[in-house]
This record gives sequence, structure tokens and C-alpha cells, in this order.
Amino acid sequence: MSLFLHIFLFTLLILHALPATTTAATATGGHGYGDRQVLTLKNLKWTQQKTSTTNCFPQRSRTEKNAIILELHNRDYCYGTRSHWNQRLQKHLLSDQIRVHSLQSRIKILLSNGFSQELSQAQIPLESGAKLQTLNYIVAVRLGSRNVTLIVDTGSDLTWVQCNPCFSCYNQQEPLFNPIQSPSYKPILCKSTTCDDLASATGSSGVCGFNSSTCNYYVSYGDGSYTRGDLANDNLVLGTTLVKDFVFGCGRDNDGLFGGVSGLMGLGRSALSVVSQTYGVFEGVFSYCLPSVTDDGSGSLILGDGTSLYKNFTPFSYTNLISNTMMPTFYFLNLTGISIGGVSLQDSSFGKNEMLIDSGTVITRLKPTVYNALKTEFLKQFSGYPKAPAFSILDTCFNLSAYKEIDVPTMKMHFGMDATHSVDVTGIFYFAKADASQVCLAIAGLSGEEEIGIIGNYQQKNTRVVYNTKASTLGFAKETCSLD
Ligand SMILES: *[C@@H]1O[C@H](CO)[C@@H](O)[C@H](O)[C@H]1NC(C)=O
Ligand SMILES: *[C@@H]1O[C@H](CO)[C@@H](O)[C@H](O)[C@H]1NC(C)=O
Ligand SMILES: *[C@@H]1O[C@H](CO)[C@@H](O)[C@H](O)[C@H]1NC(C)=O
Ligand SMILES: *[C@@H]1O[C@H](CO)[C@@H](O)[C@H](O)[C@H]1NC(C)=O
Repeated sequence: MSLFLHIFLFTLLILHALPATTTAATATGGHGYGDRQVLTLKNLKWTQQKTSTTNCFPQRSRTEKNAIILELHNRDYCYGTRSHWNQRLQKHLLSDQIRVHSLQSRIKILLSNGFSQELSQAQIPLESGAKLQTLNYIVAVRLGSRNVTLIVDTGSDLTWVQCNPCFSCYNQQEPLFNPIQSPSYKPILCKSTTCDDLASATGSSGVCGFNSSTCNYYVSYGDGSYTRGDLANDNLVLGTTLVKDFVFGCGRDNDGLFGGVSGLMGLGRSALSVVSQTYGVFEGVFSYCLPSVTDDGSGSLILGDGTSLYKNFTPFSYTNLISNTMMPTFYFLNLTGISIGGVSLQDSSFGKNEMLIDSGTVITRLKPTVYNALKTEFLKQFSGYPKAPAFSILDTCFNLSAYKEIDVPTMKMHFGMDATHSVDVTGIFYFAKADASQVCLAIAGLSGEEEIGIIGNYQQKNTRVVYNTKASTLGFAKETCSLD
């Protein structure tokens, strides 16, 4: 009976916004562990939120100096159902695992033979992934005559939307983009340099369509998700900045892990990405601050140098972006170390391997040896708390339901040029159970040493991450993410 009541009340213990959290580092002499921070577990009543507001508009955006600021939301904010906490999280982690598989398989193919027409479609059957929600961040922009909500993806280049008439489209919340209703829409010819750029942007060359004046594109995300259609130009409005003749994909056949959004915004590094296409205006600089997922808080995506707009409360720490000609799309960093509570982990791969930073992967993945070292050190410093069973890909879990406050070791990632990224305290634990009876270390190991580590968005929360493709640097600074 009491169990029933408990569930009925949906008493929710979650790690809440920063104000409830102090990040004071308290040196605890005796054990030699330096940095710790206090995490307050706040008791909240779970309220069933209204589900699926039709879309994310009206949405706040503004232009200041040479930068534009777009409001950034977690996808759940606009389209999510707020019920079934546990089920939702299971799905999030499963779809995250599918994304990581797909990234790894894309990387493997790129490293083996440059690019391939047929990226492995089959790692995971499409059905298992197609209906899952994603834990991605979305942004709203204007394309032609239509407002569109797009997933923000730093791991790919081509921006695309589902297009009318559609051969096969997944369900989306907004009406389909309709080229006929947009006088500024122009198909791109198949004999053009823009069409040729598809090969490096997507891994698949553009081909002439039935109508030889159109360039057909195909992007496979490696997990069975794909989009296929016509390459086209139209006006893109980012905030109040007009980008004329923006190149994008008009998707006539699309399926995969895109939830109910209209498409995807590619913020990768090659010629067709938003970053490259707006180079003349924003000089290859963009940044984001991702709000914490359990909040309805909104973060921001800033295109252009927004130095005067950032609200960081720690100085920026810059590292170099590493270019890999085999994988021109991706943003690679030089991971030189990780420290837990001020204790540096030891691993021979530090300083020798590239690590990907990605806005679309949720949970950070580390090479198995690095992950094991991290887990061991974390357990040593976070001892005395009762253990709980593993949850999905997360194998280090605790039952914290009896605690109001916990003392968590800090987590820092170190990069080339002596840069440091301090993971926000909200990015250390993943609350698998709403009552805190299963709270897991929010990092996972990769399945093999040869795989590439990925810094996921969960560990980038409440941080201003600035990508500067012109200077080839990436900066981290602490910021409480909200648009105001
Ligand atoms: C698009 O969104 C803006 C708000 O950003 C709104 O003013 C406008 O009416 C919307 N247009 C359409 C066609 O929905
Ligand atoms: C082929 O494309 C051109 C240029 O957009 C267009 O004018 C023409 O109507 C198209 N033809 C067919 C059969 O779709
Ligand atoms: C990564 O950092 C290490 C240590 O500072 C340095 O020796 C190495 O050359 C760097 N690698 C790259 C590709 O920048
Ligand atoms: C978690 O801990 C609480 C309090 O110590 C205990 O009552 C509860 O049974 C535990 N829950 C699980 C799932 O182990």
C-alpha cells in the first residue's frame, strides 16, 4: 500500500537547477582528495506536464553586434511526453547507444576507404531505433516561408528538412516544407560544384535526379536513419540574419531517430555546413550553452563571436581543434588527462588520441581502460553510499534516496594547450529512478580500445562551448545556461 501511494504521488527527487547547488570546493585534508562539491537533492512533486505543444514558436532570438542568439531547448521541451520517467530514460540511453554505434561505424568506414556509398545500414535494425525519442537539442529557424524546428548536430554537415511532396516521411509536428510555396526556393543543378561538395559533406556523392537539372543527395547516419532528396537553395533566417541561397536538403524520403522535428541543422566543419555557409557573416564561430535536461530551462546557440554576450563566470580555457582530413566533418580534441576530485587518472592513451566533441551524443564515452580508471577512482572517493543495480549502459549506480545532500568529487577533463573543462555537477549523475534509488555515474565505456572517445552533451551542460573554426580552437567556460 505504501508503495502504491508512493508511486501515485510521483514524488520526485531530482537534481535541480544550479541555485540549489553550491560548487564550493572544500578540501578535506585527511584523505588527500581535494576537490569536492555539494549536490543538493531536491524533493519535487512530479506534475504531469501538458504534452506536445504544437511547436516551439514563438521563440526568442535576437541579434546583437555581429552575432545572433537562438533559443535552444531540449527536444523533450517541445515534443516530449513527460510521463513514464523511467521508460523515457531507458529509451534515451538506447537511442544514445545507437548514435554512438553509428558514429563509430561512420568513423571506421572513413578511416578504411575514405568514403562509401553504402554506409553500413544494418548495424541495428531500423525498427528498433526509428520510434525512439532522442535526447537532442533543437532550435527553431525560418527557411523560405516556413518556420522549422531542427535538431542541432555538430556531428554532421548537411542541413535538411522533410519536403512536400514526400515519398516517405516520418511524422513531424510542423507542416511539411513546401517548395512550391516558397518563391525563393531553387533546386541545385547536378553539374555544379555545390553538388560535388556532397561527397565530403555526407560521404555520398550527389547524383543527377530523374530530372537531370536536380542534384540528389543521400545522407546515411549509419544506424538505419537516413534522408534522401533534392539539394536546393532557399533563404534561411537565423534570428534576424538573412542567409540568401542557403544550401540544404529537401528530403523526400527520410526515416530514423528524428522524433517529431522537421529536420536537422548540420554544424560540422565541411563546406556545406551552416558554419561554412555563413562564414562571411559569422567568421566560422559559434557557441552553445546547453541547459540541464531536467529543467525546462532554455539554453542558447550563438552564431558569430558573442564574446560580449556570454555570461560565463569562469575564464575561457582554449584548446586546439585537431583536423583529420579523413574525417573533415568532425570536431576532434586532444584529450590529455582526466582528474577526479583533483586526482589525475593515468592512462597511456592520454595526449595520443583524438576525442570527438559532439552535441548529439548524450553520455560521454571513454576507452575501456580510461573508463575503468575513472570508475575506480570515483568509487574510491564516493565511498560509503549504498550501491544500486546498473541501468542500461551505465554500470556504476547508487541508491541515494536516503540523502538530502551528497558530496561529489569534481570531474575535470584536460586537453591540449593546458585547457580544462570542469564538468558541471549536474552532469556527473544520471537519475535513472525519480526517487533517487538508482542514480548512476553518467559516463560509459566504449566496447573496444580502438573506438574513438566522445564528449557527450550531458557533460557539457551549463558550459559555454565556443567553436572557432577560423582559429581552430575550442573554448570552455562555466555559464548558467538561460537566455535572459
Ligand atoms: C514564425 O515564427 C515567428 C516568431 O519567431 C512568428 O512571428 C511567425 O508568425 C511565424 N510564422 C509562421 C508562418 O508560422
Ligand atoms: C525539372 O527541373 C526544372 C528546374 O527546376 C523544372 O523547371 C522542371 O519543371 C522540372 N521537370 C520535371 C519533369 O520535374
Ligand atoms: C596532444 O597533447 C600532447 C601533450 O600536450 C602533445 O604531446 C601532442 O602533440 C598533442 N597532439 C596533438 C595532435 O595536438
Ligand atoms: C534505497 O534506500 C532506501 C533507504 O535506505 C531503502 O528504503 C530502499 O529500499 C532502497 N531502494 C532500493 C531500490 O534498493
